[in-house]
Amino acid sequence: MKRIGILTSGGDAPGMNACIRSAVRTSIASGVEIIGVKRGYAGLITNEMPPLSRNDVSNIIHTGGSILESSRCPEFEKAEGRKRAIENLAKNEIEGLILIRGDGTFRGGALLTEESTISIIGVPGTIDNDVYGTDFTIGFDTAVNCAIEAIDRIRDTARTFERVLFVEVIGHHTGFIALQAGTAGGADSLVIPEQPLDVEGICRGLQEGHRLGKTSAIVVVAEAEKPGFSYEIAQRVAKKTGFETRVCVLGHLQRGGSPTAADRVLGTELGAAAVQALIDSVKGKMVGIVGDTITYTSLRDTWEKKKALSTRLETLTRLLAI
Ligand code: F6P
Repeated sequence: MKRIGILTSGGDAPGMNACIRSAVRTSIASGVEIIGVKRGYAGLITNEMPPLSRNDVSNIIHTGGSILESSRCPEFEKAEGRKRAIENLAKNEIEGLILIRGDGTFRGGALLTEESTISIIGVPGTIDNDVYGTDFTIGFDTAVNCAIEAIDRIRDTARTFERVLFVEVIGHHTGFIALQAGTAGGADSLVIPEQPLDVEGICRGLQEGHRLGKTSAIVVVAEAEKPGFSYEIAQRVAKKTGFETRVCVLGHLQRGGSPTAADRVLGTELGAAAVQALIDSVKGKMVGIVGDTITYTSLRDTWEKKKALSTRLETLTRLLAI
């Protein structure tokens, strides 16, 4: 393997830059040239692929976003777009390609694996943590910490005004961020897409808490398929219980900012593991960490198999809510 490429595609996640830095420096240390593809798959099609040096990745370990930038690229979903991408990869003599992101990107990577001889390695990078084959994805920990900070601040107002505050977190179609933030933020109720919405149950829980002396409450809601979803729930709860409710939708606030230590370390480990995988002739796989072990999962399994939420943590969080 003489020359490889690296790109970030889809939603950015804090820790992606730590991953790029690690991949670039590991590559160079192993005698492999590395090229940065700009704006995800779009840069493969438009042939924007500048080489990366050790210095290009200086002073980025603490930054959010992606120095390579990102995009969602509908053109790449078409065979014609992928054909141009493959031609450009060949022109630039790129033998291996590292894709940092999650399912949509890995679907593209699986097609590239079928349609070309390029070795593709995925790295899980998304705040959502919804990727099978790794305990955690890069960016999840930072997003959870952002949500907790917001919950802590919102709790001050909830307590002072004796209100029920609904805090809506992002996380695509899963409740990973909501569960973790709800547990660490001491939520009084949790709404996650893995469980059917039960407004009556939320009201009963809040009323029981009130009967036992609570004067305020925090409800953590996962946005699921409908950003702004919590406005409707808050209204229904207010109507049924008579409690004063307010909503705070955190949205993209959770996707940026300086990565936590955990995300910097995870990005660093996975960046190096991805380069090593290419050197070892692994292809069509995602590198992940399960327990303390670097693992390889076929790209297809990363989106076809579902990573489950911890039922132990969910049960405990609901038990502690009253
Ligand atoms: O996958 C990351 C994510 O931030 C999700 O949590 C969210 O549902 C989605 O992307 C938002 O996408 P966009 O930035 O395109 O609005």
